[in-house]
Amino acid sequence: MDPTVLVAPGLLEVAGGSGVELVYMLAALLFILGLKRLSGVKTARSGNALASLGMLLAIAATMVLLWGSVALWIVVLGVLVGGGVGGWLAKKVPMTAMPELVAFFNGMGGGASMFVALAEIVHAVRGEGSIADQTAPDFAIAAALSVLIGAVTLSGSLVAYGKLSGKFDRSRIGPLGLKAANIALMVLCLLLCWYAGFGAEGGGSITFAYLALTVFALVLGISFVTPIGGADMPVVISLLNSYSGIAASATGFVLQNNLLIIAGSLVGASGLILTRIMCKAMNRSLLNVLFSGYAQSGSSGDDEGYTRVKSTTAEELAPVLDAAQSVIFVPGYGLAVAQAQHKVRELADLLEQRGCQVRYAIHPVAGRMPGHMNVLLAEADVPYEQLFELERINGDFKNTDVAVVIGANDVCNPAASDPQSAIAGMPVLHVWEAQTVVVVKRSLSAGYAGIKNELFQMDNSLMLFADAKKAVEDTIAELKEL
Ligand code: TAP
Repeated sequence: MDPTVLVAPGLLEVAGGSGVELVYMLAALLFILGLKRLSGVKTARSGNALASLGMLLAIAATMVLLWGSVALWIVVLGVLVGGGVGGWLAKKVPMTAMPELVAFFNGMGGGASMFVALAEIVHAVRGEGSIADQTAPDFAIAAALSVLIGAVTLSGSLVAYGKLSGKFDRSRIGPLGLKAANIALMVLCLLLCWYAGFGAEGGGSITFAYLALTVFALVLGISFVTPIGGADMPVVISLLNSYSGIAASATGFVLQNNLLIIAGSLVGASGLILTRIMCKAMNRSLLNVLFSGYAQSGSSGDDEGYTRVKSTTAEELAPVLDAAQSVIFVPGYGLAVAQAQHKVRELADLLEQRGCQVRYAIHPVAGRMPGHMNVLLAEADVPYEQLFELERINGDFKNTDVAVVIGANDVCNPAASDPQSAIAGMPVLHVWEAQTVVVVKRSLSAGYAGIKNELFQMDNSLMLFADAKKAVEDTIAELKEL
């Protein structure tokens, strides 16, 4: 940063010396502590607050650095507009729409990195840049990676946003989406990276090379995400999240800004870890998710093909639960849609008062975002000790009287053992091993993966067709009558 922009008396010493760098280090420390605390349900809220404080400090330090320059007012405007829109979205967007919002934010992060790098490249070409040694190989590599990864993240995340919100459901756009097209585009982008950084001579051809790279990288992002669908979206979202961090980190190298390098690396690394966890949860390799092609997503609404379904009512369910010694609740996306978590807690309390052992089985990709069910149940103050991850509870369904599946579908679909299925290999909850299974949902419609669920017509299954909250409310009322 050009120190001549610093004109505010009193601030010069702080900004011109190591003051700003120190504040940046403090902000980075807060990001790391925040991230650490975000990994536990109990500490997540304070982790979020710490990371926000870090970001506030980083922005304040940048403002000190820009004091007296026009750029300061651009930052102020950015904070007001970005902060305002962010705050508004956080209030307006329902929990169930969080994944598409995250996808959109990932895209904005990637786009920001791409545009900042492009602006710095234009400065460098014109010889107006404020960073030393613009022609050095490290600048060329960082700028090319910033543009490439930022552009892929921007367009890929917008396609992911479209898919998650149901506005876009395609497996191909012309040749885009084919494995061959992805490989060809990837090779072309890497060649352009090399040419922009090391091959091109003269300002005109360098600018042209970076612009061509931007266009082809945007097309690559579309081509890369378009064929992915079905139950694989969680993996793609966390991968794009990681890309947005890597792009930011590369931009940090372009700007020689330590804080951006650290913050970007943290996002990149945590996104990669999450991607690995998601892959493990779905029992898929990353290559398999990225290159195995399209699986139909979205609810098919197809009620046909079920011939032996037995339906039940809250009135009939209440005595079954009353007699049960052990009950496992299996929450899914429908529980979030119905906002039934408080009612489920109330029902669980009633059962416990009657001496029944109550537990909750949590599938890692139940709902629409990582930890979705944990967040919902925490809202209703469900004790942590009652929550059991898939591996810890799957062996116990066979010793359980009643499994109550509430608004879940794919996460307990036995089709996962069929190699031809869209969810082939995904570990699922073995609810059918319980003595009785009650599935609460509104119809026989498919879940996110869009496939039939044989669970609905198994001999020990009962379907309670209703909105989850209404069904649980009615069951509570019936139980209180007994
Ligand atoms: P799904 O398989 O999507 O099934 C949810 C079921 O909830 C639907 O079949 C629907 O049936 C029912 N439902 C909807 N609204 C309801 C309401 N008001 N009351 C009662 N039921 C309602 O959900 P799941 O079992 O939680 O599985 C999650 C799926 O989403 C997986 O395929 C996963 O890969 C994917 N996914 C997960 C994530 C993450 S990270 N968790 C992100 C993106 C996608 P009706 O319409 O018949 O009621």
